[in-house]
Amino acid sequence: ASLSEFVAKMPKAELHVHIEGTLTPSLTHKFAKRNSVPIPEAIRSLDTSSNEYAFHDLPSFLAVYYSAMSVLLTAADFCDLVWAYLQKAHSQNVLHTEMFFDPQAHTSRGVSLPTVIEGIRQGIVKAEQELGISTNLIMCFLRDLEPGFAMATLIDALPYKDWIIAVGLDSDERDNPPAKFANVFQRAKAEGFLVTCHCDVDQKDSIEHIRQVLVDIGVNRIDHGTNIVEDETLVDLVKLRGIGLTCCPISDSVVTKDFKGKEILQLLRSGVKVTVNSDDPAYFKGYMNENILRLADDAEVSRLELVQLQKNAFEISWISEQKREIFL
Ligand code: HPA
Ligand code: ZN
Repeated sequence: ASLSEFVAKMPKAELHVHIEGTLTPSLTHKFAKRNSVPIPEAIRSLDTSSNEYAFHDLPSFLAVYYSAMSVLLTAADFCDLVWAYLQKAHSQNVLHTEMFFDPQAHTSRGVSLPTVIEGIRQGIVKAEQELGISTNLIMCFLRDLEPGFAMATLIDALPYKDWIIAVGLDSDERDNPPAKFANVFQRAKAEGFLVTCHCDVDQKDSIEHIRQVLVDIGVNRIDHGTNIVEDETLVDLVKLRGIGLTCCPISDSVVTKDFKGKEILQLLRSGVKVTVNSDDPAYFKGYMNENILRLADDAEVSRLELVQLQKNAFEISWISEQKREIFL
């Protein structure tokens, strides 16, 4: 089989996808029309010939990302968004996903937390019933906002604890270290949530942020985190603890000018549980298969290693034991 057929057929798990990052221009138009709201400026100014978003780093990406989501207003919007993404994932033979959402990006513009969570949940349940795809939900805090807002969001989400497996940290990393949220993560753990944090590639304080999430916060996983290759002690620590990394080749190549394929492979070969994921597929133009093929394009990776990346994903996933038995 060709490499693309091989990748397409491989059973996969996706552990790093922002549901708001699956909002395609065409879904944006659909929701704007249905809710009688204007098409966001960032979408209106798209290059209409290619219908593609334009950005060159994390802040410029985030500006478009937050602007576009203003069309998400009702539980039905969130349900439809989740359903569209999970159909796409299913079509690529993704059996299990762990999906981030950014509640503060919605509550801060007047959409209630129950609307967001109940809408997402409806989409997840529908996809589980109709497609057999399983999904865990991860609630992210926006690190460029105040920790008090994150704490209030955590407390407001407690009634939905059974639907949310973990909490995370995303948005603009510059001068927003994980330690800023130490109290929030401590409380989240006490409430029974697992913890993961974004340590985006090539940030101002990448290594210090990775150290903080491992030593000060005590995360169960790291999102991106590829810069860990620069610090042998931290690499030994994730190996010792069996902590996995959710890497995103296409996204990383937008945020950094230095593609991280070589580093991902180096970590894989040294026994770190790295995985490949899509991050914001509607924006970075690539779902799971495209990200795996991109890695294979840029680095010498064997088919056995591509299989190992998926074994890692199922292993470091938070899939229920019951489903793990069905899938594996
Ligand atoms: N990095 C940080 N925050 C984000 C991202 C990302 O890649 N995607 C959505 N929010
Ligand atoms: Zn991400």
